[in-house]
Amino acid sequence: MMASSTRQLLLIVCFQLIIAADSWIIEDISTKSRLNRPNVVLGRSLSSERSTPYYEERNDLKYTMSGIALPQVAGHRERQTQIHGIPVENQEKHDRRAKINSRRIEKRGRPAAKHTRPAEKHSRPTEKHSRPAEKHSRPAERHSRPTERHSSSSADSKKSSVVNYADKECVVQKVFPVNSGIPCNLTTTQTPMFVYFSFDDAITPWNIRFYRQLFSDEHRNPDGCPIRATFFNSHHNTQYGLLQELWQLKHEVASHSISHRGPSTWWSINATQQDWYDEIVGQRDNIHRQTAAAAGSRGGIPIAEIQGMRAPFLALGGDLQFGMLERNGFLYDSSIPNNNNHPSWPFTLHEPSAMNGPICRSPYCPVEPHNVWEVVMNVYFMNESGSVTPCSMIDGCRPRNGRLGALRFLRANFQRHYDDKVPFGINMHAAWFAFEGYLDAMNSFIGEMLERNDVYIVPIRKLIEWIKHPLTISKMNEIRFSC
Ligand SMILES: *[C@@H]1O[C@H](CO)[C@@H](O)[C@H](O)[C@H]1NC(C)=O
Ligand SMILES: *[C@@H]1O[C@H](CO)[C@@H](O)[C@H](O)[C@H]1NC(C)=O
Ligand SMILES: *[C@@H]1O[C@H](CO)[C@@H](O)[C@H](O)[C@H]1NC(C)=O
Ligand SMILES: [Zn+2]
Repeated sequence: MMASSTRQLLLIVCFQLIIAADSWIIEDISTKSRLNRPNVVLGRSLSSERSTPYYEERNDLKYTMSGIALPQVAGHRERQTQIHGIPVENQEKHDRRAKINSRRIEKRGRPAAKHTRPAEKHSRPTEKHSRPAEKHSRPAERHSRPTERHSSSSADSKKSSVVNYADKECVVQKVFPVNSGIPCNLTTTQTPMFVYFSFDDAITPWNIRFYRQLFSDEHRNPDGCPIRATFFNSHHNTQYGLLQELWQLKHEVASHSISHRGPSTWWSINATQQDWYDEIVGQRDNIHRQTAAAAGSRGGIPIAEIQGMRAPFLALGGDLQFGMLERNGFLYDSSIPNNNNHPSWPFTLHEPSAMNGPICRSPYCPVEPHNVWEVVMNVYFMNESGSVTPCSMIDGCRPRNGRLGALRFLRANFQRHYDDKVPFGINMHAAWFAFEGYLDAMNSFIGEMLERNDVYIVPIRKLIEWIKHPLTISKMNEIRFSC
């Protein structure tokens, strides 16, 4: 046990790291020599080119050629430019394609419209820029939200398929409290070791090559299925054709907001319920529409398949954020760092008071009950040269000695979870792979884990599915659970 004052200090450091997580990477990744790619020009303002009417009325955003909305917040542009950067030539191609897509969308009359809160009907209430009343052609009461339509993906909806699903015919009904341990009293030997990868932000030609390499068919789970990840996608710089490719390979796609705007405190302090809706549900709709436009006959990502969210900068929005998720049929959130030495299983948010304090330390934790899962982000520790550094995302820690240092770091954190078979989340940005030896380390690490024959690398929603209907390892292999 650590002395309590030391732990207190760690918690504070950790909280700061969370807030710094996104900006940290960017500073490092801007080192061009490492990345060996040209600088990027983005954010050209061109208000006549709007790819979808969704962005009308967003007075706090400006438009780029590809319809990408950039917040006018100092510092944000640099940040985004460097982290999601696309080389200029590609950006121009991307812009041309986006223009074509936007025309297609117009012609098709926006196929997603019936699933979504139709953007064109809803002028956004922008507090700062009040517009003449007559422009708000429709009264606020008409902005009814299609919550019921999305409820098929809500946390307790799959009960019908439970009969004989688990060896012990045990299912988790709706509620899975904090500190439940392994569901249905399976023993640690019967329980698979779940590992999930989650990658945040845009999908670009620069980062998809890492994903293609790590999640190639060479890496397979013990049931023979390929390993898959979760992508928390934000709009800016995403190439939706690439996102669609990932989804088609059975990776999971989740919402990480449209604007990813800064400063990070905006999400906790300033964002209204409407803002959370516009950003998170908005990106869910946007993913659906834009992947449909990019993929043509192969089809876009259905709204019902987008079931999770992560807050930009992990900046929580309290009950506004979680209420929005619940009302709009999301299955889970994964934004809460677990500032505790003991890794936690995901749980449902029916009693947030059980997590507030021991796990959630932000002033913006939810306090009301919500019918939503929380896939907590267990803290990582880097133990080097006699000091222990915590980080809430993998790329918040940068071990020395390249491949070997990274491997040691990954193994040690895996082991802390493996002892009790607590699912191990590898939450990160692709930027981490830009460091010498790290990509290689991750590739070897995946191979090592899979050699154990009880490790399953699955998307987050698959993990939640398992918690609701736990299966022993032998049963999983029999039904090829992770395919
Ligand atoms: C798990 O074990 C505990 C204690 O033995 C028991 O009270 C509980 O009902 C069991 N739960 C299930 C789902 O079997
Ligand atoms: C957010 O709210 C704070 C406090 O009310 C205010 O000072 C700040 O200017 C706001 N920031 C933005 C970006 O609106
Ligand atoms: C860190 O590593 C040192 C030596 O490798 C070891 O003695 C120490 O117990 C470790 N500390 C933690 C908290 O893991
Ligand atoms: Zn992000």
